[in-house]
Amino acid sequence: MRKLVAGNWKMNGLTADGVALARDLAARAKATPPACEVLLCPPAPLLAPLANAIAGSGIVLGGQDCHTEAKGAHTGDIGAPMLKDAGCAYVIVGHSERRHDHKETDALVRAKASAAVAAGLCAIVCIGETAAERSGGRTEAVVVRQLQASLPLRLGPAQLVVAYEPVWAIGTGRTPTPPEVAAVHARIRAALRDLVAEPAGIRILYGGSVKPANARELMTVADVDGALIGGASLVADEFWAIAQACG
Ligand code: PGA
Repeated sequence: MRKLVAGNWKMNGLTADGVALARDLAARAKATPPACEVLLCPPAPLLAPLANAIAGSGIVLGGQDCHTEAKGAHTGDIGAPMLKDAGCAYVIVGHSERRHDHKETDALVRAKASAAVAAGLCAIVCIGETAAERSGGRTEAVVVRQLQASLPLRLGPAQLVVAYEPVWAIGTGRTPTPPEVAAVHARIRAALRDLVAEPAGIRILYGGSVKPANARELMTVADVDGALIGGASLVADEFWAIAQACG
């Protein structure tokens, strides 16, 4: 399956810098089309300018969150059809920062993923254990519980990507070892058999402190089908090196 490398810009980037970064990446993609699929998830105000900046490059666009409803009286929120309309193919749902900052539950994440799919988007559903859960030996139980409760049932590979992001690895420079990543991804793949339409075809991304220096090691782990990148996605050289490591 074709790997997916997704840049999650989080709440970073004003128009000039964001467009310059996207143009830089688009030029690289046109010059040397990457083996993996490359996705940028900028802050919502940058979606329209980025759609223009990456046109014709093969790079695709995604949102960082969506509401459970398509439209209506929800001040400050974004409906999945609006993301689709802005040129998105994907949307991240259930990122640990949203689960933490906005108290998002598995049930809410599931409703958001359903709304995304209903709008014709592919939902990137994030799961992952905290440091306390890992040290307590509960990692696999936690991610399986999150999967079971966060995924709408019976989605297929065009509708769903799973991102495994240990909370303690996000933005910390710490990562699980390749065998630890392999164990969790194998457990996720096994759990998907009861939950989705084509478990072997669903891409399972690893996220959390992926950098050029560790990308090749992490991306060659069994059942790792790409990466969700935060900090390193804001630097063209770093993000591109990771995309190339995926090829
Ligand atoms: P990081 O973030 O690469 O900065 O650790 C990953 C993420 O939160 O998706």
